[in-house]
Amino acid sequence: MKIGIIVLSYTGNTYSAANKLSLALKKEGRDIEIRRIGTESTDPNSPGGKKINDAPDTQPFDIILFGAPVWAFSLSTVMKQYLAQIMTLQGKKVGCFVTQGLSKPWLGGNRALKQIKKICTDKGAVVFAEGVIHASSKDMEKQTDDLIKRMSVL
Ligand SMILES: Cc1cc2nc3c(=O)[nH]c(=O)nc-3n(C[C@H](O)[C@H](O)[C@H](O)COP(=O)(O)O)c2cc1C
Repeated sequence: MKIGIIVLSYTGNTYSAANKLSLALKKEGRDIEIRRIGTESTDPNSPGGKKINDAPDTQPFDIILFGAPVWAFSLSTVMKQYLAQIMTLQGKKVGCFVTQGLSKPWLGGNRALKQIKKICTDKGAVVFAEGVIHASSKDMEKQTDDLIKRMSVL
C-alpha cells in the first residue's frame, strides 16, 4: 500500500506535522512519501500565494493523508482549489488533518475538517482518520502523536 501525504503549508506548521507523521509511519515500515502543494509565492496573503503551480498527483497512492492550514475559520481556499481539480478519489482511503493558530477547535479547525472530509467523500474516498492540531498550543506535540496513532490504523 503506497501512502502519500499531500500537504499545503506556508509557515511550516502543517508541514512539520506531516513530517512527523511521515517519520512515524516510515518507522513502522510503511511506503510513504510527502508531496507539497506548490504556490507561486510562499506568502499566504499575496495573490501569488493563492496560485497553485504544483499540484501533486493523487493517482500513485492507495492511502492519502491530506494536511492543510485553517484560514478565516475554514479550510484554506488553496486546499479547496487543489481538491477541486482532482477528478476522483474513488477507491482511496483518506486521512485529513488541519492546523490552526487559535487554540480552540471551534475557531476554524472543526469546520475546516468537516469541509475537507465532505470534499473527499464526495469524490468517492473513504475517510478513515482526522485531526485538528493547534499550532500555538502547548498540546501540539500530543495532538500530533494522537494524529499519528489515528493515522497508523491502516
Ligand atoms: C490568511 C490566514 C487566515 C488564518 N485564519 C485562521 C483562523 O481562522 N483560525 C485559526 O485558528 N488560525 C488561522 N490562521 C492561522 C493558521 O491556520 C495557522 O498558523 C496554521 O498552522 C498555518 O499553517 P502553515 O504553517 O502550515 O502554513 C490563519 C492564517 C492565515 C495566513
